[in-house]
Amino acid sequence: MKGLILSGGKGTRLYPLTYTSAKQLIPVANKPILFRVIEAIRDAGIEDIGIVVGDTAEEIKTAVGRGGRWDVDVTYIHQDNPLGLAHAVKVSRDFLEDEPFVMFLGDNVIQGGIGDLVEQFRRSEWNSQIVLTRVEHPERYGVAELNGEGRVVHLVEKPSEPPSDLALVGIYMFDRYVHQAVDSITPSWRGELEITDAIQWLVENDFQVYPYVHRGWWIDTGEPNELLTANGLVLDDLTPRIEGYVDRDSEVDGRVTLEKGAEIINSVVRGPSIIGERTRIVNSYVGPFTAIYHDVEIEGSEIERAIVLEDSVIRDIPARIQDSLIGRSVHLVRSPMKPKAYKLTLGDHSQVGIL
Ligand code: G1P
Repeated sequence: MKGLILSGGKGTRLYPLTYTSAKQLIPVANKPILFRVIEAIRDAGIEDIGIVVGDTAEEIKTAVGRGGRWDVDVTYIHQDNPLGLAHAVKVSRDFLEDEPFVMFLGDNVIQGGIGDLVEQFRRSEWNSQIVLTRVEHPERYGVAELNGEGRVVHLVEKPSEPPSDLALVGIYMFDRYVHQAVDSITPSWRGELEITDAIQWLVENDFQVYPYVHRGWWIDTGEPNELLTANGLVLDDLTPRIEGYVDRDSEVDGRVTLEKGAEIINSVVRGPSIIGERTRIVNSYVGPFTAIYHDVEIEGSEIERAIVLEDSVIRDIPARIQDSLIGRSVHLVRSPMKPKAYKLTLGDHSQVGIL
C-alpha cells in the first residue's frame, strides 16, 4: 500500500503567513502539520509516500527531504496547477501504479491517526473507503449519504441542501479503479476535478464504497482560527515533557512542554502549551493553548491561545495578546521613542486588532 499526500495550494486564507511559507509547514503544537500527516501514514505501516507539490515545492522538499527522518521513502510529484484533488490523483498515476493507497490532505489534522482505517481497508475487498465525520455546516464540504446497510450511495460536493451531516474528511482509501474514475469525470463549477465526483462515479458504476465514521476531532486548517483550534486540540492530547529550564521564581504547570534549551524566568506558564527550543520567556505570562516555536523571546508580556513562529520577539506589550497567529521574525515591542504612536510595518493582508 502507498500513501499520497496533497501539499500544493496557495493558502490564500492564511495570508500573510503563506506568502513566505507553505501552509502545510505551519507548526501546530510546534510540529509542522505536514510532518504530522507523514507520521500518521508511517504509523499505519505505509513507507512509500508520494507528496504532490505545487508553487511551494522547493520549501516542502527542503523541510521534508527524502523522508529518512521518519524511515519512509518520499517521492515528489509536481502538479503545475491546482486543478482539484482528482487531478492530483491523475498526475500521481506513475507513482501509484496499480497499488491501493491512502490519500491524505496535507493541511488536515486528525485525532488518533489512521491505523484502524488502513487496517480495515487492507482486510476488505472494497474499492474505496472514505472517512466521514458529523459536522455543523455540511454545505462547506463534500457530503455523503449512506443506505440502510451503511454503504455509500450518494456523494455531493458543497451542496446547498446537504443530504446529511456527514462530511468527507480529507482522507480517502482507494484501489486501482479510482484511476478509471478520475479519467471519466469532468471539471466542476469551480473548474476543478473533484475527488467527490470520482467517488460518486465509483458508486454509480457499482464499485464498493464504504464509509469510516471518524469519532474524534478533525480540523481542516484553512484559516487562522482553525489553526488555533487545531493547535489547542493537539496540545490537549500532548504528553508533556520538560527538557528546558525553569527558574525558582516561575510557575509552570503539569501540562506544559518545554523543549530543549527553553528558559522560563520569573514567569507563569499554564498548559496545555509548548515552549520551543532556545525560546526565552522572561517576566511574562503564557496561557493555555499557546505554542511558542523555536528561538523566540517573550519579555514583559502576556500571551494566550496563540501560535508564535521562530525568531520572533515580543516585549513589554501592555495588553494580553490572545487568539493570535504571529509569523517568523516578527518584532512586537513597546517603544519609548517619541512620538507616542503605533508604528507598524505589516505585510499585505495582515490583520491587527487594537484595544
Ligand atoms: C476538499 C474536498 C471536500 C472535503 C474537504 C475536506 O474540499 O473537496 O469534499 O470535504 O476537502 O477538507 P476543499 O478544501 O478543496 O474545498
